[in-house]
Amino acid sequence: MKESDGLVVGSPVHYASASGAITSFLDRFFYSGGRYAVHKPGAAVASARRAGTTAALDQLNKYFMISQMPVVSSQYWNMVHGSCPEDVRKDEEGLQIMRVLGRNMAWMLKCIEAGKNAGIPIPAAEEEKKRTNFIR
Ligand SMILES: Cc1cc2nc3c(=O)[nH]c(=O)nc-3n(C[C@H](O)[C@H](O)[C@H](O)COP(=O)(O)O)c2cc1C
Repeated sequence: MKESDGLVVGSPVHYASASGAITSFLDRFFYSGGRYAVHKPGAAVASARRAGTTAALDQLNKYFMISQMPVVSSQYWNMVHGSCPEDVRKDEEGLQIMRVLGRNMAWMLKCIEAGKNAGIPIPAAEEEKKRTNFIR
């Protein structure tokens, strides 16, 4: 992630959630290395036989949203349907959503690069990070 300009994560839907594997990976990555993702655009995609895609996408997008990452979107929520790759290839709407998402991610990366070259700095961090304790 130190070397990357952006991040795309994908997951099958397991019990209306992202898979355990990607959840464990992203928990550990964002806890230990999330600082390397700050200000880099992120996109999440979900693949399911039938249902639970929006819940899985909500879960995945939350890693980006706690890390100051611009969330890249498409013309619908980023999902495809099918039980196997052959099924997914027949999901024409899902495939179009992915193509539009890819173009939007490329555009966002180019805009950020153009901004850097034009001298627009990344937003300065505040000196002290506040942590409210609701019990005291
Ligand atoms: C443990 C498990 C739970 C699943 N839960 C869902 C689900 O909630 N909704 C759904 O549409 N598909 C569900 N599926 C189907 C997967 O999203 C996927 O379409 C299918 O497993 C094919 O991907 P795979 O080859 O990676 O397993 C589940 C599959 C597994 C293995």
